[in-house]
Amino acid sequence: MSAPTAVMKKADALRLKLRHHNHQYHVLDEPEIPDAEYDRLVRELQALEAAHPDLVTPESPTQRVGAEPVAAFGTVQHRLPMLSLDNAFSETELRDFHRRVTERLELDASTELEYSAEPKLDGAAVSLLYEQGKLVRGATRGDGTRGEDITHNVRTIEAVPLQLMGKHFPASLEVRGEVFMPRAGFAAFNAAAVKKGEKTFVNPRNAAAGSLRQLDPKLTAERPLDIYVYSVGSVEGGTIPDRHSDVLERLREWGLKVCPERKVVEGIDACLAYYEDIGRKRDQLAYDIDGVVYKVNSIEQQETLGFVSRAPRWAIAHKFPAQEELTVVRDIEFQVGRTGAVTPVARLEPVFVGGVTVSNATLHNMDELHRKDVRVGDTVIVRRAGDVIPEVVKIVPDRRPKGTRQVKAPAKCPICGSKVVREEGESVARCTGGLFCAAQRVEALKHFVSRRALDIDGLGSKLIEQLVELDRIGTPADLFDLTKEELIELERMGEKSATNLLASIEASKSTTLSRFLYALGIREVGEATASSLASHYGKLEAVMRADEEALQQVPDVGPVVASRISAFFAEKHNQDVVRKLQDSGVTWEEFEPKPDSGGGKLAGMTFVLTGTLSRMTRNAAKDSIQALGGKVAGSVSNKTDFLVAGDKAGSKLTKAQNLGIEVLTEEALEKLLGDQ
Ligand code: IVH
Repeated sequence: MSAPTAVMKKADALRLKLRHHNHQYHVLDEPEIPDAEYDRLVRELQALEAAHPDLVTPESPTQRVGAEPVAAFGTVQHRLPMLSLDNAFSETELRDFHRRVTERLELDASTELEYSAEPKLDGAAVSLLYEQGKLVRGATRGDGTRGEDITHNVRTIEAVPLQLMGKHFPASLEVRGEVFMPRAGFAAFNAAAVKKGEKTFVNPRNAAAGSLRQLDPKLTAERPLDIYVYSVGSVEGGTIPDRHSDVLERLREWGLKVCPERKVVEGIDACLAYYEDIGRKRDQLAYDIDGVVYKVNSIEQQETLGFVSRAPRWAIAHKFPAQEELTVVRDIEFQVGRTGAVTPVARLEPVFVGGVTVSNATLHNMDELHRKDVRVGDTVIVRRAGDVIPEVVKIVPDRRPKGTRQVKAPAKCPICGSKVVREEGESVARCTGGLFCAAQRVEALKHFVSRRALDIDGLGSKLIEQLVELDRIGTPADLFDLTKEELIELERMGEKSATNLLASIEASKSTTLSRFLYALGIREVGEATASSLASHYGKLEAVMRADEEALQQVPDVGPVVASRISAFFAEKHNQDVVRKLQDSGVTWEEFEPKPDSGGGKLAGMTFVLTGTLSRMTRNAAKDSIQALGGKVAGSVSNKTDFLVAGDKAGSKLTKAQNLGIEVLTEEALEKLLGDQ
């Protein structure tokens, strides 16, 4: 049964809408509707098509994914050969090219010839054939004469229009461009592949080419591919403009995606300026490029120039320094980051890559080191793309000499000697030194002085960095014997600010146990946990003495947090820091915890606060609850008695509801607090 006219109209309208939003999102990068709304439109169309299969057209936006796997690729004969480009690696080579061009065109070498300048995208070349505006074929470049038929795969790339926009396109139009995988998508794709134990790609270019050659289009559809088109191939039944830059503009009007960095320049000096300009921008671009391409802009002049063997005489690629190079691993050492992460680093035979000399490259973590099986003495591919830190991509097995050395993960921190631990399920190993470890000192100190910790006003990051650099501060205890004389010596420190700073250091000495515990920067111990610990134990000694099992009796403390706390206090140097702080005069009021936390009317009850409270601040609510003997925890568990849900409460509310925990509104809490 064929679909009624009204349904047909509806499906057409939906397709038009989706085509428009696809174009806005994938080509113009200016989405007009949220993703969820877009998905709803797709589902609406899918439902119509399911009910009326005769409505489905190959151009329908629903037909991009889910096509059946193709058995193998067919071969495509290119109507016009897909050419390659000659390269210029220096200014001289570029000037030679310009001279050859002007000579052939019988122009003076000083002629300010117009060039279309474009980034040279690092992906895979494709040919897209549109008949009557519909995408009928996609092909790889292959050998330039014959390519593979990858129609099913290119159809899954959202930025490839299945139907051209407007009306005045040629009856038959072949467009050429580069399919690429943006850097972010590449990183995410590889990270996911590592997790699943699947094959990773060496670089975004390989990833793009590999994805295009998937036999199952569903797999291609899952890859974050994108495209910029950069020229036309065969054109029948219509005309195209006579300047290359106008051709690109026209392609853009027809809904194809062209690179926004393209520019018309006049003369060879302008080409060089463009090269410099794009070179500076290179790291910020969302995708890899390996140079720029200059094309004589006049199509008539292009025809006069013609081509030799496989490359046109009217275009040249001006290459950037390579982003991947080979070098030898001299050693593998371990670096400790500011958060304690212990990272293996390869010390390399210095190599020029990505425009700089690289002598260190990250190996990320022990899993990566093992997965890549990098050993001292190996020859490796180093990659420095964008502004990311150089990394060892892979080893070259054929070049492995005899006697390479494997490296084991360190048990002790190379900086401070503390134990290095790796939690289950974590890829990173960490130094447990915390405050004590010089590598982590700056971060630990910043946290120690922050507003909700000891709250030392006037001690900013720059100052901390200076003090640590001068080796004046090893542990936070050293903050308390800073003198005015030495402070004044520091950069940007006048007498007045030194006096003020000393005053706030002095004032910070009188604190609370909860703030003190939080300030220590024990991993996983946030404010809520610190405050639970303080009200549960009342005394620092008691917290320090508690074993893991006892700690788990505290609201908000599960097995992981308990192990972090007990590991922290087990380290002798952490105990020392705590003593020194107390000796420096840091104090708080201690109390004997009463069984069930004593007399307050909320004693023994644990609250969790979530969402935005409108009538009091969270801290005020917390203080009031604690004043009445209640406990406030940071996360919902079966130890929670009440969840106070403000506006826009999210997952905690759902969790509380699932656990059958009583949910209070802000008003209800107020009543509970006030109703004494
Ligand atoms: S024009 C005759 N423009 O570079 C024109 N190619 O080394 C040939 N490429 O196979 C292509 N960005 O895959 C052109 N803006 C650009 C390009 C570009 C990347 C690739 C293309 C080509 C290869 C030649």
